[in-house]
Amino acid sequence: MNFRFTAFLLLGLPLLAQAGPPLLPGQALFQKNCARCHGANGKKGANGAHDLTKSNLNAFGRTYLVTNGMGKMPAFGKTLTPAEVQQVVAYSLTLK
Ligand code: HEC
Repeated sequence: MNFRFTAFLLLGLPLLAQAGPPLLPGQALFQKNCARCHGANGKKGANGAHDLTKSNLNAFGRTYLVTNGMGKMPAFGKTLTPAEVQQVVAYSLTLK
């Protein structure tokens, strides 16, 4: 490992991590766990998934559904922590 590479790791990476608009914490969780059915924009509708931009469910209803699942929608109560469920639900509510 040469000095330049070490300097990049020490100085460059934190700068890169700070660049760009801040992501909502739930966005990465959504892309990892939900986008394969709902799509990155919530509208994909794969496997019979509902269009999240048209959902009338509030945060309470979504938290229940994501935790416990319904029909073909998997339950995430065992794979996500309650805090992560809350973050991904908050993100899903921003999809319009
Ligand atoms: C395997 C595919 C699949 C995945 C992955 C999935 N969903 Fe769903 N989702 C569905 C299906 C199917 C429904 C419709 C359930 C029903 O009513 O029977 C649904 C419904 C919903 C609804 C209710 C919409 C409404 O008003 O009817 C919400 C909110 C939701 N999903 C959020 C999420 C979130 C957040 C994630 C990630 C943590 C996720 N889903 C992951 C398939 C999926």
